[in-house]
Amino acid sequence: MIDLHTHLLPGLDDGARSWEEASEMAQTAAESGISVAAATCHANLPGRETSGLVREYRKRLEKLKELLRKYRTPLELVEGMEIMDGPELIRKLKRGDLLTINQTRYVLVEVLPDAPAWQVYRMLDHLLEEEYYPVLAHPERYRCVQKTPAHTKEWADMGCTLQIDKGSIFGRFGEAAMITAEYLLQRRLAHLAASDAHRADYRTMELAALRDFLGRHYGSECPELLLRENPGRILRGKAVIRL
Ligand SMILES: [Fe+2]
Repeated sequence: MIDLHTHLLPGLDDGARSWEEASEMAQTAAESGISVAAATCHANLPGRETSGLVREYRKRLEKLKELLRKYRTPLELVEGMEIMDGPELIRKLKRGDLLTINQTRYVLVEVLPDAPAWQVYRMLDHLLEEEYYPVLAHPERYRCVQKTPAHTKEWADMGCTLQIDKGSIFGRFGEAAMITAEYLLQRRLAHLAASDAHRADYRTMELAALRDFLGRHYGSECPELLLRENPGRILRGKAVIRL
């Protein structure tokens, strides 16, 4: 499996709190059948400076890769960020102050939980205009989507890729997120699923249970598409399969 949304690198956000925890998370990932993961730290949060972040990020990514080699953990790491929408988003991407997924044109983006739908439309428009391919992180957790889930069909039709969280499917973010995740899965609107892992013991990188759950409820092709085929296409910069 391929996990394109994880907070694996310590010292950059509210994810792993130490190198030990990051190594433990990676070990869990490998044991549950993940072969490649993007270490997507939060970026472009309001009030946080982004200059210098990429240099620090890459230093930390290299250090974790080294640790995984040392511990013989069979997990390949690629770069990426979970980028919050903001006024300077495109300029920062173009300047290289923010990172795309695995140096492709795919960008993992998010908005605040209570952002209005028009803000998402505007962000997607701006990115697509500049030939970036937006991957919208956990749409099922946004209030505007919980209220009007049909927005997601329009976003998908615009060319946006929709990523749902393991925790939403299992009810960790409340009933509204769970019901909305179900809506996306039933209508085949979710293009990929990811752990959005933050800790070794909470919101983990364990994806085997999710793979089994998706297979049981939505057919065996569902986990194949959401956890392997489409994230693999994103890593290669290819178009995802849209059903
Ligand atoms: Fe995240």
